[in-house]
Amino acid sequence: MIPDTLIEKLQNTQHLVILTGAGVSAESGIATFRDTLTGLWENYEAESLASEFGFLADPALVWGWYEWRRNRVLRAKPNPAHHTIAQLAKQVEKLTLITQNVDDLHERAGSCDVLHLHGSLHQPRCLICEEPYSFPEMTSLENTGDTECRIEPPRCHLCDGPIRPGVVWFDEQLPAKAWQLAQEACKNCDLMLVIGTSGVVWPVAQLPYLVAQKDINLVQINPDITSLNAVAAYNICGKAGEVLPLLYAAAFDKA
Ligand code: OAD
Repeated sequence: MIPDTLIEKLQNTQHLVILTGAGVSAESGIATFRDTLTGLWENYEAESLASEFGFLADPALVWGWYEWRRNRVLRAKPNPAHHTIAQLAKQVEKLTLITQNVDDLHERAGSCDVLHLHGSLHQPRCLICEEPYSFPEMTSLENTGDTECRIEPPRCHLCDGPIRPGVVWFDEQLPAKAWQLAQEACKNCDLMLVIGTSGVVWPVAQLPYLVAQKDINLVQINPDITSLNAVAAYNICGKAGEVLPLLYAAAFDKA
């Protein structure tokens, strides 16, 4: 299933870049953005829940939706894919981990310096003055169960503005520093693993092409076919939580 040449490349890489998407957290039970818009949220448009316009129109609805999602992440655990990525950082000379996920499962598995290009559910800030907001130690989330929940956003302790989720909304720029570091890493790496992303959301979807253009080794791990199949040097068809431990064992576990 895993080509010998890929194992050698992983053993010899000096700068490995890993780009992850929702598929990496799927085996932890975290629904993708689109999946969360089913069930009790199916009557809402993505734009009304994930935009500044929607937040201003109905702050309690939008804050409640993100609290509902954060509640699910808090209850989830990192899976073997997250753990293997954290272990890889100890084996290779340099690893840059870039994610589109807004959960903290990479960090909870032990990964450091994760570039969160779509922000984080766990780092809200003031809509007005951008002061970071810390959730209380024991946030009450009982009311974010199986019924639609409306929760008034907390207020900023500096300017009394409403606190907004720390994610990137429709029509917003990616976090500038993280985006710059991600592009630089893709231009300078010698191996890139693209794991669990459909590769349809730009501008992040352009990152693998920076690598493919330069004839750097591009590897995709995904149970489905994506547009990257045409440009990746290796396409490993399978679930991240199954493929990554096998790849790691083949490259680094001593017989
Ligand atoms: P998608 O939901 O578009 O794609 C998830 C990908 O994961 C698909 O290609 C699946 O085939 C694959 N997949 C599913 N299970 C998997 C598994 N166990 N192992 C490996 N792969 C698996 O998610 P993203 O590409 O991350 O943006 O979506 C990108 C962005 O779209 C999100 O970050 C979000 C959304 O709009 C924002 O929130 C700003």
